[in-house]
Amino acid sequence: MQTPFVIALDGPAASGKGTLARLLADRYGLAHLDTGALYRGVAWLILDLGGDPADADLAAAVARDYATEKLAGADIRTRDVGAAASIVAANPKVRAALLDFQRRFAKHPPGGAKGAVLDGRDIGTVVCPDAAVKFFVTASPRVRARRRWRELAPSRPGLEESAVYDDLLERDARDAARADAPLTRADDAELLDTTHLSIDAAFAAACRVIDGVFRRCES
Ligand code: DC
Repeated sequence: MQTPFVIALDGPAASGKGTLARLLADRYGLAHLDTGALYRGVAWLILDLGGDPADADLAAAVARDYATEKLAGADIRTRDVGAAASIVAANPKVRAALLDFQRRFAKHPPGGAKGAVLDGRDIGTVVCPDAAVKFFVTASPRVRARRRWRELAPSRPGLEESAVYDDLLERDARDAARADAPLTRADDAELLDTTHLSIDAAFAAACRVIDGVFRRCES
């Protein structure tokens, strides 16, 4: 069996990595895993139980028992779930429980795909250190806050952009400061700063890098 072609995309919230990951998966016929959704799923399940995301043992138990089917109809994209996800993501037992799931996805991409695109915070550094291509996608905090606010505002009238900005800085700090698998750029990751790039331009830049890797693999 050929080794699956894996693309790793890491970066902070609202950097554009999720959109880019979906576009790249479509373009190259690869399976896509949004790994942030796993942490959000665990957070949602804890909140649904009336639990505290900072309860390390409860979070670990929920993560070990994680199954996508339990999240049917769950809205995991809210601000509260995002904040709780960042807390459970700092728990090493939660990370260990979700690591296998992510590695299995990369090694055996579903639907017979020849590879996978995974986006998150530690894909290039911890989950798939041997990925064929790695990107670190980022943008200035102000631009990211505006993007996230535009996403949330239609369902949250009255939501202030400044509150989204403050949340984002808090989550960035927590994701980057945690001891286990902090958000950081892998040494061999391409930097993609989307502050002044449209999604089309970012996609084109990423495709140029990937096509270059394909050419090198073929020659
Ligand atoms: O990308 P997101 O906002 O959906 O991620 C939710 C939280 O999960 C975020 O605070 C960081 C965490 N996360 C992580 O620690 N490792 C990953 N591979 C993906 C997300």
